[in-house]
Amino acid sequence: MEVLKDKRILIGITGGIAAYKAAEVVSSLVKKGAQVKVIMTAHAMEFIKPLTLETLSGNPVYYDMFSRPGAWEIDHISLAKWAELVVVVPATANILGKVAHGIADDLLSTTIMATRAQVIFAPAMNTNMYTNPIVQENISFLRSKGYMFIPPAAGRLACGDYGEGKLADIQDILAEIDNYFSRKSDLKGLKVLVTAGPTREYLDPVRFISNPSSGKMGYAIAAACAERGADVELVSGPVLLSPPPGVRLHRVETAQEMFEKVMELFPSCNIVFKAAAVGDYRPEAYCPTKIKKDSERLILTLIKNPDILKELGRRKDDRILVGFAAETENIEEYARKKMREKNLDFIVANDVTRHGAGFEKNTNEGLLITREGEVIAIPQMDKREFAHRIIDEVIKRIPVLRRVSN
Ligand code: CTP
Repeated sequence: MEVLKDKRILIGITGGIAAYKAAEVVSSLVKKGAQVKVIMTAHAMEFIKPLTLETLSGNPVYYDMFSRPGAWEIDHISLAKWAELVVVVPATANILGKVAHGIADDLLSTTIMATRAQVIFAPAMNTNMYTNPIVQENISFLRSKGYMFIPPAAGRLACGDYGEGKLADIQDILAEIDNYFSRKSDLKGLKVLVTAGPTREYLDPVRFISNPSSGKMGYAIAAACAERGADVELVSGPVLLSPPPGVRLHRVETAQEMFEKVMELFPSCNIVFKAAAVGDYRPEAYCPTKIKKDSERLILTLIKNPDILKELGRRKDDRILVGFAAETENIEEYARKKMREKNLDFIVANDVTRHGAGFEKNTNEGLLITREGEVIAIPQMDKREFAHRIIDEVIKRIPVLRRVSN
């Protein structure tokens, strides 16, 4: 109840049969103490009248780009600035396509373009539209830009078809809004260190040994921690991702460089998420010039790299260490062994052979295992949401953390 008190929530309603359900969302948010304003598209008004939303929200409903209210304010800019959160419910294929392609041709799309608030889409449409690769690509693209989604449910659709596309349950939409605000500042005052991506172990100036880690999981954790108010240091191997807003990025290449940067940052940190896929071995000898293919057989001798996380386990004091275990068999057993050997508080165990998890994927699924032996199964979901779920569980179990101010 308290979480939403006085929060400024802008609801966008687009033209689908589920538009009438937005009325219940608005009514529930107002009951929870939120301030709610509503923008409707022209098509939304074919399904539900502005008067209903005006009455439920206690505010005028906005729908016209070019109306001139008494005050000299431009609606899409003032609403974009006013909102702490924008929720589009229902979101049609049309609005997703427009936002994904930078089209801003009505009040809702211009407001979405102009806002710095988080935008959450709750799509609802015919199942063939929803599963259309163009819509799915738009959704992936929007996710990669930080837009959040409340995926539709499967069931009987208004058109009589069965399948995915039904607006998510109202209670799930409300829970997601609640989650957004309750997570928002729960890491404030905490310093978090995240490692991400692969390392490169060079043989010569142009060749290296590496692995397919894309850095997506680590970057998602860094972004989620920053969203929740933490001061975030991200130590990253070479990846193609841009650093999330509000995160300090430290680029490294080799395991040794990662080791040094992590040890330097560690003393001032409260929580470490060690998501990087660190190369376990490096070539014993580095050839400073390009190795020529003179011989028929080339034998490489590899030597062990330092185990960064194990070293953090030795130095940890009251810091919280969250490790990751990428496994292909005996997932839980191997993960527990790593947790013990590296003195961790939590470990996230992934079966990287599964379709919804592993290197380069946009989704993840796995087990979060606590030092006390509790096992929390996290189903397949987008990596950003997966990151939030891990953080939720971690902070739930460590209510008192020393907040570092530097
Ligand atoms: N890790 C690390 N330094 C290393 C190797 C791993 O900090 N040299 C960390 C990883 O970032 C991860 C955890 O240890 O959080 C487990 O990594 P993983 O590659 O799954 O396991 P390893 O310890 O390398 O063991 P193995 O390769 O035998 O499975």
